[in-house]
Amino acid sequence: RGTVRVAVLGCGTVGGALVRLLLEDPEGLADRAGVGLELVGVAVADPTRDRPGVPRALLTGDAAQLVADPTVEVVVELIGGLSPARELVEEALTRGKAVVTANKALVASCGPDLAEKAAAAGVDLLYEAAVAGAIPIIRPLRESLAGERVQRVAGIVNGTTNFVLTRMAEAGEPYEAALAEAQRLGYAERDPTADVGGHDAAQKAAILAGLAFRCAVRDQDVSREGIEGLQAADVAAARRLGFEVKLLAVAEMVDGGAVSVRVHPALVPQEHPLAAVRGAFNAVFVEGQACGELMLYGRGAGGAPTASAVLGDLIDAAWNRLSGTAAPAPVLGPARIQPLAELRCPFYLS
Ligand code: HSE
Repeated sequence: RGTVRVAVLGCGTVGGALVRLLLEDPEGLADRAGVGLELVGVAVADPTRDRPGVPRALLTGDAAQLVADPTVEVVVELIGGLSPARELVEEALTRGKAVVTANKALVASCGPDLAEKAAAAGVDLLYEAAVAGAIPIIRPLRESLAGERVQRVAGIVNGTTNFVLTRMAEAGEPYEAALAEAQRLGYAERDPTADVGGHDAAQKAAILAGLAFRCAVRDQDVSREGIEGLQAADVAAARRLGFEVKLLAVAEMVDGGAVSVRVHPALVPQEHPLAAVRGAFNAVFVEGQACGELMLYGRGAGGAPTASAVLGDLIDAAWNRLSGTAAPAPVLGPARIQPLAELRCPFYLS
């Protein structure tokens, strides 16, 4: 059995959870994965600070040096944001290393460019954890459904807002109190306006749309409205009429081959499977011509669930490394985006 040398950049909620998964039982993990994963370093802003379960000896303050280490074969980027994450990922790809990232902002803004770099180097760029935490949705769209004519992907892809909306609907809790609780539980982004304003979901919508329709969709292409304007009374009124209010990320093929990509609060009929998704859970509902309807459901936020998706990618990257291959990378053509104003009833999920 081979072993692959891994560097992790960033040791926040997800990075810390990943390091613990890698170190708690490396032999058992290697048996399950069929490949050994040797953690050679973890780059952090402050290597003198204690982090539970992370040996000091692995910490470094120099991410660029870790990426440049010629013995590192896979780089896991969990810093988040655009800079320096982008530069470090580009450097790793240029050096012929596989990259695994959970960075939705990075993939949504420059995923197609990074994918080109990865393809040119013949290495993996994997980002399952960037959308819907533990739920496998990137790999199914990229591989299992590769031949499918996808008609629509509609998802609850932000745990914070679904938690807030559920509290408002079920307990009549005011918006502010529910959001404070989501922050306390560690679901929200550092700046929760990214959650409630729909920016986080818009990044995920762009990534899902790109894979579903094989076109380069960026976050700025996504029509976006958040949940800040909603009140518990609105959500309760919708309930009485037979709907749940959900913040949906929708990517859909419309007439003439254009694509609608949008995030907004929507009325979801109570009999639709997405209406039953409560709390911080996520779900992605896919409709395709041959496959019909599929729904993937699970934990979309939090350290361990997101680290689980990163670990799956890491194992894939390690296998591919040992066999000298890379995961299939679909060619993304230009996107033709349908303006929201031209859609009929976009705020109702039929
Ligand atoms: N803040 C995000 C959420 C975390 O609430 O879903 C996962 O991307």
